[in-house]
Amino acid sequence: MSLGPDLPRNWYLLGPSKVLPRGHILSQSIGGRSIVIYRGQDDGRPVAFTAQCAHMGCHLGKGAVVGNSLRCGLHHRLINADGRFERDRNGDLQQETFLVEDFMGGLFVHLGDKAAARPLVELGLQETASCYAGEHAFPLTWQSLVANGLDIDHLSAVHDRTLLGEPLIDWPHPDEFRLRYVTRPSARKVPDRVINWLAPDGIHGSIRGISGTMMLVESRVGSRDTFILMSFCPDDAGGTLIRGLVGIKGSASLTNRISARVARALFKAFLHKDLHVLEGLRWHEPAFEHSFGDRAMRDVASFFRGLPRA
Ligand code: FES
Ligand SMILES: [Fe+2]
Repeated sequence: MSLGPDLPRNWYLLGPSKVLPRGHILSQSIGGRSIVIYRGQDDGRPVAFTAQCAHMGCHLGKGAVVGNSLRCGLHHRLINADGRFERDRNGDLQQETFLVEDFMGGLFVHLGDKAAARPLVELGLQETASCYAGEHAFPLTWQSLVANGLDIDHLSAVHDRTLLGEPLIDWPHPDEFRLRYVTRPSARKVPDRVINWLAPDGIHGSIRGISGTMMLVESRVGSRDTFILMSFCPDDAGGTLIRGLVGIKGSASLTNRISARVARALFKAFLHKDLHVLEGLRWHEPAFEHSFGDRAMRDVASFFRGLPRA
């Protein structure tokens, strides 16, 4: 049974903003959509287009940035940031454009109906020190990976976390699924000891599945509020590239920037535990409800099915 769209309408993280300096072009493919993103030479703003030129289909990654426009490599026509072609008085040619934004040090593109795009500032991550957490390719669908992120029962089985009390589930928005919980590490390895020392009352966590392919994990460890924002970018071969930003609430002071890097290392150690067990996973919801986690997973499956496609 289908688990919702292969490519949901959503924002997708393309990498850290600095991968695209002024005057440069980046070519990417997400879920079979080929796009080019360039940064204006003068205004420094990123612009995203469908990769193939509306004139005769040349890949615009072969072009050049001229001022704040993109010049196609094949006939040197100039395409403005709004997708209109220079000197095309009748407006016959229009390059398809996408919303694209620099946000928290990352470069994000929105795929799908622009009018329905939720502003990234609604994530409430302002006033944080953040850093790019890198990318990791998995030969798994985004649904398998996101379902794993929301799978409360695997926290104890795979991640050695003990749940303190029953988690809470709600839908803060029609395209958003949220799980809140308190856990404590049950193993005695170094990262677990560090967390137990920092957070004697447990880790207060919230996981938000946002429009399917974005996940925001916020954790309060002691007096520190950390977050990781993960973007699940479907590749062209049925797998997924996960890219992330990690951060800590507070100003970008040196201490907070160091803490963000510690949070990144702890988070990578956490994810590392998933790698082996997820190999070959083809996720589906459980047929029976034997636990809170089973019920939550069935809710997650219907959440996936209700998502609009890009
Ligand atoms: S194909 Fe792009 S200008 Fe002709
Ligand atoms: Fe996991």
